[in-house]
Amino acid sequence: MILPAAQAVVAALAPGHAARILDVGTGSGALVPAIGAAAADVTVVGLDASAEMLQRCRSAAGIPAIRCDALSLPIRDAAVDAVLLAFVLFHLSDPVQAVAEAARVLTYGGLVGTATWARDGPMEADEVWDETLTEAGAPPLPAGRVDAALDSEDAIGGLLAGAGLRPTRIWLEPLCHRWGLPAFYRFATGSGRNRQRLQQLNAGQRGEVLDQVLKRLRALDPDAFAWSGEVVCAVATLSMLGMKVVTAELPVHVAPSSRIASAARFFQPVISGRSRTPGRAVRSVQYGPVHGSVPPEHRRPLRASGAALCWASTGTANGN
Ligand SMILES: C[S@@+](CC[C@H](N)C(=O)[O-])C[C@H]1O[C@@H](n2cnc3c(N)ncnc32)[C@H](O)[C@@H]1O
Repeated sequence: MILPAAQAVVAALAPGHAARILDVGTGSGALVPAIGAAAADVTVVGLDASAEMLQRCRSAAGIPAIRCDALSLPIRDAAVDAVLLAFVLFHLSDPVQAVAEAARVLTYGGLVGTATWARDGPMEADEVWDETLTEAGAPPLPAGRVDAALDSEDAIGGLLAGAGLRPTRIWLEPLCHRWGLPAFYRFATGSGRNRQRLQQLNAGQRGEVLDQVLKRLRALDPDAFAWSGEVVCAVATLSMLGMKVVTAELPVHVAPSSRIASAARFFQPVISGRSRTPGRAVRSVQYGPVHGSVPPEHRRPLRASGAALCWASTGTANGN
């Protein structure tokens, strides 16, 4: 039901040939076939916090799957070409950190794709389920996800830009589904939050609830089974334009070390000035990124005797 929106994100990611892609919060790996179809010769790795989901992912999708928290990916910097975060950010305690992690593991020119809920229902048949369970004494569960701050194009655009990513496309993807009663009943009893609530009841109560709800559902109009929702889909890139300027302090009498010289090939001076360090003849230069990609070894602060070259991997799109 929700897959078409995530598949649209995968198609928009359009990673190139031989791409390395992380599917963070992969679940059962339902998006793996779409990822395979979007690019030739891709290597997909699934990551998820749930061992049960990963087991399903390994057997259903046949990809390597790693158990981890999306807030701390066990992946080195600048290692992958694309990161997919489909229907996962709203489950996380810190979506900002998850997007920062995605940006950290991306190569330059790499892409992040996200899918989050702008609107999900309501649907009358769901409300009937909810009421029946509450009347039977099954307490509501705590919120399983938090859509706030992830539910609009502006919010997602801000989230991605805050991690130094440049959104290339953000759009709303409408979804709708018309359930038949048997399929809805199977879905509601076999998975999801209604099932969890059912488990809170004893066997006798459960039987009564199931009889009761079936009776109520049968009395509903077919429109009560019509669901619609809207998904915020986004693709963003880790672009050099998103970088902050870099600052180098090079003592004038010291020739730049080979390490700095080699790093400096990838930057151009954008601001020059005198150092504010008293008593030192130091030339202070701010460097901005030049076109082309910066190799991973130059992504962290570099230090050499008598000189330092540092740069930050986050910043505003105009390099301020
Ligand atoms: C709704 S499913 C999405 C599955 C898949 N991305 C898709 O679109 O079909 C959300 C997944 O996020 C996983 N998840 C929740 N919290 C997580 C966390 N902190 N780190 C990694 N995965 C997490 C859940 O285990 C679940 O498999």
